[in-house]
Amino acid sequence: MSDRLYIFDTTLRDGEQSPGASMTRDEKIRIAKQLEKLGVDIIEAGFAAASPGDAESIQAIAEVIKDSTVCSLARANERDIRAAGNAIKPATHGRIHTFIATSPIHMEKKLRMQPDQVVEAAVAAVKLAREYTDDVEFSAEDALRSEPEFLCRIFDAVIQAGAKTINVPDTVGYAVPHLTTDFFRKLIEGTPNSDKVIWSAHCHNDLGMAVSNSLAAVLGGARQVECTINGLGERAGNAALEEIVMAVRTRKDIFDLTTRIDTTQIVPASKLVSSITGYPVQPNKAVVGANAFAHESGIHQDGVLKHRETYEIMSAESVGWAQNKLTLGKLSGRNAFRSRLQELGVLPDSEEALNAAFARFKELADKKREIFDEDLYSLIGDESNLYIERYKLISLKVISETGEQPSAHLVLNDSGDEKHVEALGAGPVDATFKAIETLACSETKLLLYSVNAITSGTDSQGEVTVRLAKEDRVVNGQGADTDIIVASAKAYLSALNRLDEGIHRAHPQV
Ligand code: KIV
Ligand code: ZN
Repeated sequence: MSDRLYIFDTTLRDGEQSPGASMTRDEKIRIAKQLEKLGVDIIEAGFAAASPGDAESIQAIAEVIKDSTVCSLARANERDIRAAGNAIKPATHGRIHTFIATSPIHMEKKLRMQPDQVVEAAVAAVKLAREYTDDVEFSAEDALRSEPEFLCRIFDAVIQAGAKTINVPDTVGYAVPHLTTDFFRKLIEGTPNSDKVIWSAHCHNDLGMAVSNSLAAVLGGARQVECTINGLGERAGNAALEEIVMAVRTRKDIFDLTTRIDTTQIVPASKLVSSITGYPVQPNKAVVGANAFAHESGIHQDGVLKHRETYEIMSAESVGWAQNKLTLGKLSGRNAFRSRLQELGVLPDSEEALNAAFARFKELADKKREIFDEDLYSLIGDESNLYIERYKLISLKVISETGEQPSAHLVLNDSGDEKHVEALGAGPVDATFKAIETLACSETKLLLYSVNAITSGTDSQGEVTVRLAKEDRVVNGQGADTDIIVASAKAYLSALNRLDEGIHRAHPQV
């Protein structure tokens, strides 16, 4: 069995299925480029049949990514496979990932298909996919709740039809580690020609065991793991890439496998995904949380100073924390700014966009003495969305005084028209949101409002995430500013702008 572990990243597909995490084409390209830099083997760039926009994003990623394989998801039907095949056409290495549910409950209640029909659809899908590419992956959705005998039968059939990777998803996050190891062993032993394919795990985190189950699958013979940056994904998320990679690397004594990952690119990837999707990383999150390498207690600090390995099993530098220190200041010039953006993989495509970003950087540097990489990520994030904005904040004046009701006076650009509005609220943020709503009348429901300091210090920028729902659509918006009320207004407007894009897309698993 191979000693190479393939890393399949599905941040742009399963990760995007998190509420409000939908990304624009340019945002997806930026993440894909960072994933390539990280050394991910396969980038699942989306689900082409979801909408024409999704297909275009996959195609655009396929055009720019050279080292990683670019993959599209497809249900086991002709329309999906053709959409996926067309989307990956420009790729240097392209894969189609087709799937169908195999558990009794999914076959009976969701698909309303007999097991024989499911096998037939899977074989037809793989054969059609092979007309587009030699690299075809087959997934048995809800595999961990499926009959192992039925799985061996369907896997045998799709391997004969030309599948090269067999993925065994724990779709609902139901598995437990020691049984997952046994399950993989049983499937690999019971499937004819199992040595001709790569076995893969795809675990969800509903019981908090996605990473453990993925690693258990590896012990049972899996040589590909499907995961996402920061564990983003449907419901409780997918297995976190950074945790799997660092576990395999740190516990080489147990796994004895190599990956192609450049671990120093982990933290930059985490920051980029968090700032684009508006999903903050909890401070105590393994590997990429702000506290993951902070030694609070005096005893620990003393130990680490004397000998790092006393309390640290991996170094902050090895996962890219060192690069995330202070980078630029007020006196930094355009060249320094440009080269730092290049190093971070977020250099805008046009000189015009770079100039706009540099002007924003100078404004920020006037307010804030030290500019960190996190500031740059959020600044570039703001800039890259400019062209799709209907609403843009021109100015905001908020009056908040003890014993008085706070008020907000807002000036907005609404599709080129300048509009003024005033509103009162329970607090300054409430007054600001009410002012925006007086103009926008969006009829949305506010699902989430969260504020995070991007860096440390009271001059840090506050990064605000706002999640809005309207009918069946959920969107996230972000805004960053040294003034958190301004950041809140920007986040609210960014969510409204996303809602205004009006993208309607199919969900692959519903
Ligand atoms: O969780 C799941 O089963 C999936 C499949 C589409 C692979 O995401
Ligand atoms: Zn999934």
